Amino acid sequence: MSEPPRADQNPAARAEQLRAWLHHHAHLYYVLDRPEVPDADYDRAFQALQALEREHPDLVTPDSPTQRVGGRVLDGFAPVRHAVPMLSIRTETDTTEAGALAFDARVRRELGLPEQGLPVEYAAELKFDGLAISLRYEAGVLAQAATRGDGETGEDVTASIRTIGQIPLRLQGEPASWPALLEVRGEVYMRRDDFERLNARQREAGGKTFVNPRNAAAGAVRQLDPAVAATRPLSFYAYGLGQVQGPELAATHAQTLDTLAALGLPVCEDRAVVLGGAGLAEFHRRMGERRDALPFDIDGVVYKVNSLDLQRQLGFLTREPRWAVAHKYPAQEQATRLNGIEVQVGRTGKLTPVAKLEPVFVGGTTVSNATLHNLFELRRKGVRVGDPVVVRRAGDVIPEVVGRMPGERDRYVPNFRMPRECPVCRAPVGREKGSLEHRCTGGLTCAAQRKQALLHFASRRAMDIEGLGDKLVDQLVDAGLVRTLPELYTLGVAKLAALERMADKSASNLERSLADSKRTTLARFVYALGVRHVGEATARDLARHFGSIDRLMAASEPELLEVPDVGPIVARSIRVFFDQPHHVEVVEQLRAAGIQWDEHAGVAAAAPGPLAGRTLVLTGTLPSLTRDEARAWIESAGGKVAGSVSKKTWAVVAGAEAGSKLDKAREIGVSVLDEAQLRELLAQWPQPSA
Ligand code: IVH
Repeated sequence: MSEPPRADQNPAARAEQLRAWLHHHAHLYYVLDRPEVPDADYDRAFQALQALEREHPDLVTPDSPTQRVGGRVLDGFAPVRHAVPMLSIRTETDTTEAGALAFDARVRRELGLPEQGLPVEYAAELKFDGLAISLRYEAGVLAQAATRGDGETGEDVTASIRTIGQIPLRLQGEPASWPALLEVRGEVYMRRDDFERLNARQREAGGKTFVNPRNAAAGAVRQLDPAVAATRPLSFYAYGLGQVQGPELAATHAQTLDTLAALGLPVCEDRAVVLGGAGLAEFHRRMGERRDALPFDIDGVVYKVNSLDLQRQLGFLTREPRWAVAHKYPAQEQATRLNGIEVQVGRTGKLTPVAKLEPVFVGGTTVSNATLHNLFELRRKGVRVGDPVVVRRAGDVIPEVVGRMPGERDRYVPNFRMPRECPVCRAPVGREKGSLEHRCTGGLTCAAQRKQALLHFASRRAMDIEGLGDKLVDQLVDAGLVRTLPELYTLGVAKLAALERMADKSASNLERSLADSKRTTLARFVYALGVRHVGEATARDLARHFGSIDRLMAASEPELLEVPDVGPIVARSIRVFFDQPHHVEVVEQLRAAGIQWDEHAGVAAAAPGPLAGRTLVLTGTLPSLTRDEARAWIESAGGKVAGSVSKKTWAVVAGAEAGSKLDKAREIGVSVLDEAQLRELLAQWPQPSA
């Protein structure tokens, strides 16, 4: 089926051939994400069918791929009565493993099974965060799509649903295998990347932006103009059945989903058949770890008793099946109120507007501060003090304000303005041309910058001064005891012990960790200085390249540019830093205070190779390196080779016949290298002999 059908048939037969070919390739493209023909071939066949249908309007069928976008703008949605009600499922709100065990215990009790004994088999899947849809296929052709509504009666949203490329207008496979009537239940959702792109497009066009993918998806489905709906990137996953007429499709839920996949419906591959409560708990944990790396939002997982016989035995409790449950994860978004906006000064003087929120439990902790990034982000989101807002905290990412909840303000609230003076030291606030960031120009005379600089200096990956945390730094700076980094080393136990809440023991402990920190590496020392744009990796490169602090301090911009990965911005920033006599003095005083670094040994230990700290994934067959050779080389250069792709993956090295790992990398935006590019990266690094 990879050649578009030729034009030597009678029109009706040819139209049918083109349709079948287009359905097949649309399925490969949209559902399996594995196209077999170039887009241009698809477009050509599509245009051929369009031309044929224009010539012979009687040949147009409702399932023709040309009929995805209906012409008419609707004036409303007709009600649709569901033959089999669209039920919701009970939610297990205990987000720990106990939630899984409780469901299993309940199922066993209701089936009359002993507490111990053979485990029950479950189908475990993701709980997609979109909206429920029922698709009705009559004789294999999509006849109607409806929302859930109140479960009994929903709305006819066929026109907008037809625009979703992933939803087949006609089932795949042999018509003989199609049930006379098949209602597929599933979730319409929007991928995160599609959501971001849609919002960017809306912003550019001055249109309305959406708070989250679910709202965007719901809005798109209830869009009355199919032409507009067609521009909204929606996706779909099938998770069950409604009314079915015809022979039994399967004996288990997992088989039902396999059958739906074979009929051409998108079914999520992140699902499993597991045994007992322990199997459910393990699935919950495993998917929880993957949650942030998925290309779409989920708010939990769903467990279903796998055997359809047992499902029938368990039956329903009023409106909910006894055989299914949703097991949540801590919500990553919550609504709350914006009580105020404060401006925080960072280590390099950057001013960040921080939202002061009505405390709210989100992403597993109580959040009362969230970043608004910068003035321009804040303006774009249009939030003002007093607004109801949505906060998001995903994984370990700093909580952020996503946007304001829809609705009018009942009073005038002035827009937020950046202060003209630093709120901490009163130095003027500046903004470089073209930059989105406002900065305090006070440098280390600003107490806020000084505190942050001290904290950075003391941090684990810098000088690693144990016991010097933010409370203590506040005290030291506020009491005027420490004004510069070197003053840390001249404090002495007596002054420390005199501080409030500082016991003699803690004072001498800190004294000891200060002493210990004096033996360090050049790379750590350079990083600890806190030069703007110089992170750990750059500090290591600089240490390796220059080998001494004096040579680094003396390096000109062109010399700095010779360091791998140092570009003009970083080179400039380093030069600006050391051009300030004050910074040179700091280095001298630190040296005088006894800081020593083993210039070469330290660097080598901290910098084992060009791939240090990076995780790569190998997939497919490389032209000349075996898997083991590639792995050994990467590892010798300090890299790690992992078995699966996640957000933590630095790059995927792909060869011939690369499979799902490559797809995953593209999906989540991880770089992909071929062997030649890998060899280039490792050009300066000898390949270990076998
Ligand atoms: S099964 C009778 N499976 O969660 C069982 N629902 O109340 C019907 N949802 O809004 C639901 N992912 O749209 C099921 N894998 C999944 C699901 C899922 C998301 C939604 C569903 C409904 C709610 C369940």
